[in-house]
Amino acid sequence: MKKIAVLASGNGSNFEALVKAVRRQKISAEVSLLVTDCEKAYVRDRAKRLGVNQLFLNPKDYSHRQDFYRKLTVVLRKEKIDIVVLAGYMRILNADFVKTFKNRIINIHPAILPAFKGVDSIKRAYQYGCKVFGVTIHFVDEQIDNGPIILQGSLKINNGESLDCLESRIHKLEHKLYPQALELLVNNRLKVKGRMVSIL
Ligand code: GRF
Repeated sequence: MKKIAVLASGNGSNFEALVKAVRRQKISAEVSLLVTDCEKAYVRDRAKRLGVNQLFLNPKDYSHRQDFYRKLTVVLRKEKIDIVVLAGYMRILNADFVKTFKNRIINIHPAILPAFKGVDSIKRAYQYGCKVFGVTIHFVDEQIDNGPIILQGSLKINNGESLDCLESRIHKLEHKLYPQALELLVNNRLKVKGRMVSIL
């Protein structure tokens, strides 16, 4: 049974979708830990309700980013974590941390990468007048929203659709696709060569 840690900073709807998918035994793994960098994040309430262990690691307690990630590495190693899932985690990982968990860290981004990297991507794509929107799940490297792509999903905007409505459809797509990608990783069905990810 693979052990998963989720790193999240905010609302946590993807965290909840993953925990529920794993529990429905769609995925033979266990979400054993939530790590947050934000004391008031709503994801903490979700973890409590779902009975998932959680840890609040305050970045302000560490004078250097590398010390924060050293501590996080120690915690994850102690918990024997196999896979790290970023779900709305608002910090950039450091190179050593990425190296330690190479090809075992995944992230979800609400856009069809490489378009609209960074924050507020749905709003920016909406204001740009895009007709097709989507979601990307990718391995994490040292750069933001950059690593090899595992899965992408898309949807078309409806005529006159509001940003709120579009956002909620994109999040629904995220909640469907993220468990699928995690399942592929858990079952060793992803082969990475350079930027290419094949599904075995
Ligand atoms: C999601 O849109 C995810 O793609 C992005 O941050 C958002 C997190 O939402 N990385 P939630 O906290 O999982 O509800």
